[in-house]
Amino acid sequence: MRLTDAEKAMRDGQGGEAVAAAMDLLIRYGEALGAECLVETHNVTGTVTATTPFMRDFALEKGGMDAVFSEFSLDSRKVVNIPKVKAFSSHLQLGFDPHHPQEMGLSEEMVRFYRKSEAETARLGVQILNTCTPYQVGNVPTRGEHCAWMESSAVVYCNSVLGARTNTEGRESVGAAMLTCRIPDWGFHRDEGRRGTLGIHLDIPVETVEDWGLLGYWMGDWVQERVPVITGVGQVPNLPKLKHFGAAASSSGGVEMFHLVGITPEANTREQAYGGNTPTELRHYGARERAATLERINATGKDRQVDYVMLGCPHYTIEQIWEAAQLIEGRKVNPGTALWIWTPRAIKEIATRNGYTKIIEDAGGKILTDSCSAMSRAVPPGTRVVALDSAKQAHYLPAILGVQAWFGTTAQCIDAACTGRWSAA
Ligand code: F3S
Repeated sequence: MRLTDAEKAMRDGQGGEAVAAAMDLLIRYGEALGAECLVETHNVTGTVTATTPFMRDFALEKGGMDAVFSEFSLDSRKVVNIPKVKAFSSHLQLGFDPHHPQEMGLSEEMVRFYRKSEAETARLGVQILNTCTPYQVGNVPTRGEHCAWMESSAVVYCNSVLGARTNTEGRESVGAAMLTCRIPDWGFHRDEGRRGTLGIHLDIPVETVEDWGLLGYWMGDWVQERVPVITGVGQVPNLPKLKHFGAAASSSGGVEMFHLVGITPEANTREQAYGGNTPTELRHYGARERAATLERINATGKDRQVDYVMLGCPHYTIEQIWEAAQLIEGRKVNPGTALWIWTPRAIKEIATRNGYTKIIEDAGGKILTDSCSAMSRAVPPGTRVVALDSAKQAHYLPAILGVQAWFGTTAQCIDAACTGRWSAA
């Protein structure tokens, strides 16, 4: 791999042992990918804290968070002192909501450890955004900006909606990028990796969050890791719709980038989206595909009695919390059902200032932050049946926790929370 003088100096230890270990990792990783060089990045998003009891035990046994960073973020057997990060870096979920540890089933000891782990991460200079949607709360890369992001739903949003450039990185590569401001120049960092390769034409209007989730789930299943170009889009989708669309596509498949012709930054026209590629296939999405996808997502839903309504995957926007507050104001959550809404801490703060947290809590629901049910395996005790407005969460929760899932609109979910029953078709 071609290295600049500055990169060679980092590799040779001029920045200290941790930076040398990070460069070593990036060189090995880049060579395995077939990258010819590294690209500079000043925007990294990932997880570096100890997020599981196993990591907590590892930290306690091996000497703290430097040991965790060395082993799990730098692939270094030797424990090296971790300096402050060089790149602007933000943290994904932490693993617990500091205000609702009991609901999440966490012991006091685990809470103490999480708090310590978070404080040490902040001391490294990593922004404690604690969300899968960093683009909602202060990390909004610009078009063409090279990033190094983890979290599939954030990656597809970063590439497709913002026009910034990232592959789906892992804990190791983001740790190394934080210390070096480098990442292999490969895949979605390069123009040729971003061009569309196959097409989808919409034969029906796709308008609601539910519609976009269904389209994304259908699309991901078909295109897997290819880059689709979508034509026939009517109403321009907003942030929540694009968030749900990408998240669904990156769960049923591995979609890291899509082009919505006339809407997303690199797809002003169909020709621009393909960038000279000839589409290998074209499929139509119509009423039949939509109905079959809804049936598939709801395949685990059998019992109509709902124990838990989970909203906020990916983390809810303030607009979605506003909608939920309007839907539930003056109503009460059914005594046998729990309503939890997940959002970034910063958005909960706005929701509280606007009175939405009170409306939701007065109704018997809760707004939680910093994590989610799938990431933390946190659901109310005894949960067997869940209602969701997220195709991504409906994909993962039954697989992770063995629960039944119903997928529908936010209004249907709020109705399920208040009546205790899933009454949508
Ligand atoms: Fe975010 Fe959890 Fe969904 S991390 S995208 S809310 S599975």
